[in-house]
Amino acid sequence: MTEIGQPRHYKIEMLTSAHDRRSFESENPKIDDYLKRMALQRMKRHQARTFVIIADDEPTAILGFYTLTMATISFDESPPIYKAPPGKSVTAALLAQMAVAKTYSGKGFARKMVMHCLHNCRQIDAVSGLLAITVDAADENAKSLYLHLGFEVADERDPMRLHMPMDAVIKKLEMD
Ligand SMILES: CC(C)(COP(=O)(O)OP(=O)(O)OC[C@H]1O[C@@H](n2cnc3c(N)ncnc32)[C@H](O)[C@@H]1OP(=O)(O)O)[C@@H](O)C(=O)NCCC(=O)NCCS
Repeated sequence: MTEIGQPRHYKIEMLTSAHDRRSFESENPKIDDYLKRMALQRMKRHQARTFVIIADDEPTAILGFYTLTMATISFDESPPIYKAPPGKSVTAALLAQMAVAKTYSGKGFARKMVMHCLHNCRQIDAVSGLLAITVDAADENAKSLYLHLGFEVADERDPMRLHMPMDAVIKKLEMD
């Protein structure tokens, strides 16, 4: 337990079975359900990686989480950012899920997790090359947050899919 007056410290680490997934509750039950039922299974199958934000004095309580995986995007969806030749599909990192526990919203946890995610994307870029990171905003509220954090719409026909090209990722990490 942190003593009264001591600031709490938070850290982001990879999800394990030791974390309490069942008690997690954000504003979006569908995303919570992913954490409860799918996240570990997809980790075991090497399909995705989920990261959780925890407090040092309560290391099993999940305060927020995000999932990173890879996605194939066809050229028609987003030509300007990916600079792919016609008819080609491209691979990008996908921020597939993100949620913050209701009681912790508005404290900067989503920003922390997006920056952690961008850092992970830079690592992927360093070892295999990566064009961009993409995210499908769940609603207008989430879209507005991602736009605020530097993502952009690449194709007006797909307005809920947001992107951040690798150059922008690197710039944002340097400015942080
Ligand atoms: C959306 C959600 C992840 C935001 O989490 P949060 O921890 O409250 O967000 P933060 O406090 O880290 O906010 C990050 C930044 O975005 C800004 N922001 C928050 N909501 C915003 C909005 N609707 N529009 C624009 N900016 C917004 C904050 O002011 C903050 O800006 P700053 O860092 O420049 O000061 C959280 O409300 C949630 O879990 N919602 C339910 C699940 C969900 O919708 N997930 C998104 C799926 S795509």
